[in-house]
Amino acid sequence: MIEIKNLTISFDGKSVLENIDLNIQKNRITTIVGQSGCGKSVLMKAIEGIIKPDTGTILIDGIDIFSLNKKELITVRKKMAMLFQGSALLDSLNVYQNVALPLIEHSSLSEDQVKEMVSEKLELVGLSGVLDKMSSELSGGMKKRVALARAIILKPDYIIYDEPTTGLDPIIAQEIIKLILKLQSSYKLTSIIVTHDMDCINKVKGNIIMIRDKKIIFDGIYDDFKNASDSFVKKFLK
Ligand SMILES: Nc1ncnc2c1ncn2[C@@H]1O[C@H](COP(=O)(O)OP(=O)(O)OP(=O)(O)O)[C@@H](O)[C@H]1O
Ligand SMILES: [Mg+2]
Repeated sequence: MIEIKNLTISFDGKSVLENIDLNIQKNRITTIVGQSGCGKSVLMKAIEGIIKPDTGTILIDGIDIFSLNKKELITVRKKMAMLFQGSALLDSLNVYQNVALPLIEHSSLSEDQVKEMVSEKLELVGLSGVLDKMSSELSGGMKKRVALARAIILKPDYIIYDEPTTGLDPIIAQEIIKLILKLQSSYKLTSIIVTHDMDCINKVKGNIIMIRDKKIIFDGIYDDFKNASDSFVKKFLK
């Protein structure tokens, strides 16, 4: 579980998030919504330990991530995978090398073991036979799949998707959503999805958290979100 307590984050004296209290439940999908610039990515970066808050704590499985030294933080981060909006593949590497990278950096597996794991994950995301393709040669949807395969290769407990369907055509976007749901049921994952995509929210039906004006204005299950009386939530749902 991720427990966020009294979190305030500001840049240059201007706060983006103020006194946020939030629990993200284990083995579920939580969707984070809110207008552009409301602080969704900042919140995700804080959970990753990349951005330090002014005040407050973030506990991941009971561990206060801002009390850790660098080495300890790396250990916690290994439990967490991040799927960045632009996929963040390395253009100078091919598909195999991109997916294998975390294993090469963080494990001492043999080359054969790495190959086997990479093939298995690429198969899982529906991408076989493209090992040698350079990432610059891939379509947006394929890049997302490769990034997904890379994200799960270290068997994370948590996976954070920042706008996983943005910029994809509707059919590919639906496939990516299906894949997120498949990964969720195949592994014991705790998934966090940052999205504007109503179709994604409707298909995932997980817990929903909405940020507005530096605060959490909704935190609950999908059905309650759909029936919420808050005028801003209603406007968002239209
Ligand atoms: N490193 C930074 N330095 C200064 N300001 C920042 C930094 N990162 C984010 N901000 C500011 O914090 C606010 C929230 O940004 P954030 O990226 O979290 O928005 P978002 O909700 O993810 O928006 P979007 O939906 O467009 O991705 C913005 O005003 C942004 O300019
Ligand atoms: Mg963002």
